[in-house]
Amino acid sequence: MIPIRNPAKSMDVYLNGAFTDAGQACISPMDRGFLFADGAYEVVPAFNGVLFGFDAHLGRLQRSLDALQIGNPYTTPQWRNLCLELVERNGSGDLAVYLQVTRGAPESRDQAFPASSVPTTVFMTTYPIPRTAVHSPDTATGAAAILADDLRWSRCDIKSVALLANVLCRQQAANAGAVEAIQIREGLVTEGSATNVFIVTGGSVATPPCSHKILAGITRETVIGLCTDLKVAVCEREIPREELLGAEEIWITSSSKDALPIVTLDGRPVGNGVPGPVWKDLARFFVEHKRSICGGTEQ
Ligand code: PDD
Repeated sequence: MIPIRNPAKSMDVYLNGAFTDAGQACISPMDRGFLFADGAYEVVPAFNGVLFGFDAHLGRLQRSLDALQIGNPYTTPQWRNLCLELVERNGSGDLAVYLQVTRGAPESRDQAFPASSVPTTVFMTTYPIPRTAVHSPDTATGAAAILADDLRWSRCDIKSVALLANVLCRQQAANAGAVEAIQIREGLVTEGSATNVFIVTGGSVATPPCSHKILAGITRETVIGLCTDLKVAVCEREIPREELLGAEEIWITSSSKDALPIVTLDGRPVGNGVPGPVWKDLARFFVEHKRSICGGTEQ
């Protein structure tokens, strides 16, 4: 049994039925998550201690577990209570709840599934979500991204813990001083290493369609809905690499970044090289939407 190293100071995690200090949590090295990345995960944001998009995240967890043929160990109300308790134990505020379910820790290493009597491993932790750009649309400066080849497998719709290709891609971005790598497969935009991608061309918004090639982001769905409410044309369609390069605006979306404007791509300016007007309208709407669900008065 190996204790999890370098735990954040005095933070609680949840592991297999109990809340414990992060430094005390132990998993077996035989865990199939450790040996085979055989598991699924979710990241559920909480703002002001209130879970945001919980049902959608749990729906996606169920789809991931079904695709991997891993039984869901808890009901949705049980998951909700666990998330809420962990958020409360870790000080509420703006936190991402990371939850992971693996196919458990059988006695021997065999790629085939273990006996159904082997229980799944459930691990949950939290980390702070810094205030995102949508909260300051007039002063936000935007972020840098790079392009990268999409080297992943053909089931990117499953939120699997097998993230090695994403890890390499994200490090490529970090090495270039960028926040994200936008991946290209066969000449078409797929998504970032941990975000979905939107572009604005001719004043209308486009994002790649849901398929096995991307993760159906919960924030992506929120942004599509908000664009529709804003009466901005939004289309789910393929985006060729050249169109991305010529886009007026590029945004990346995720539960911890909301919608972040990308102002340089591979070092070249996107549009005017500053966050664009469509994003600014969306940002104001996004914050109102979050506030209507999670409360809070500060920008
Ligand atoms: N990442 N695409 C990929 C590959 C992702 O890993 C994520 C989320 C998204 C955005 O999904 P959502 O809007 O539901 O957060 C798209 C999470 C945050 C992560 O791995 O940390």
